[in-house]
Amino acid sequence: MAKGFFIAIEGPDGCGKSTQINYLAENLKSLGYDVVLTREPGGTKLGEEVRKLLLLSKEGNVSPYAELLLFEAARAQHVEEVLKPALEAGKIVIASRYADATRAYQGGGRKLPISEVKRANALGTRGLWPDLTIIIDIDSEEGLRRVKGCADGSPGKDLPSGKLDRIESAGLEFHRRVRAEYLALAERESDRICLVDGRLKKEEIAEIIKKLVLERLNA
Ligand SMILES: Nc1ncnc2c1ncn2[C@@H]1O[C@H](COP(=O)(O)OP(=O)(O)O)[C@@H](O)[C@H]1O
Ligand SMILES: [Mg+2]
Repeated sequence: MAKGFFIAIEGPDGCGKSTQINYLAENLKSLGYDVVLTREPGGTKLGEEVRKLLLLSKEGNVSPYAELLLFEAARAQHVEEVLKPALEAGKIVIASRYADATRAYQGGGRKLPISEVKRANALGTRGLWPDLTIIIDIDSEEGLRRVKGCADGSPGKDLPSGKLDRIESAGLEFHRRVRAEYLALAERESDRICLVDGRLKKEEIAEIIKKLVLERLNA
């Protein structure tokens, strides 16, 4: 089976995922690689509908387990419809968020037991994990400040400038727990996960990510 390469870009809201995915895609395309860009929740028609339910729902009381399972439902569709076929066709897939986000947001942020989040991830991913995960770290105040200041029409933006989605507006303490869980994951799974400092300039981060990816692609 021809095998592609699966890269997930992760990190707190506002860390620079969408920005860096665009740099990385351009860098890889200019080297002749066949690149597929996708995102979670989303990436499929069903997943984009679930994204709206998860992020734009005005309903305050989405139960944490309903939230967990909606993310996994979108992921299961994404794996079957987009990720596996692209990887089997030998492409490089760059995803904005994947199952580590569920660990960070539903495990860390919502405080669901990690054992249950892992079981849910096992169902959603069907065992497919990225070859490389890059977590862009940013402190929660700065991340939320950037999200609020993000201009209309920016890539991946779901709402007009200044407006926060349901998860972005979950509060500073929630976002601090998300960040802490991402940092813990990067430490525990350092073979797969690389941590990058999101405070650097966009171009500097892009160079670091490009190096990390090319090292592995050429390995
Ligand atoms: N390294 C950086 N330094 C300063 N601002 C940044 C940096 N990277 C991204 N931004 C800005 O922060 C905002 C959020 O970036 P974005 O890439 O949309 O983050 P994410 O997709 O992780 O939420 C945007 O306005 C973007 O231009
Ligand atoms: Mg984004």
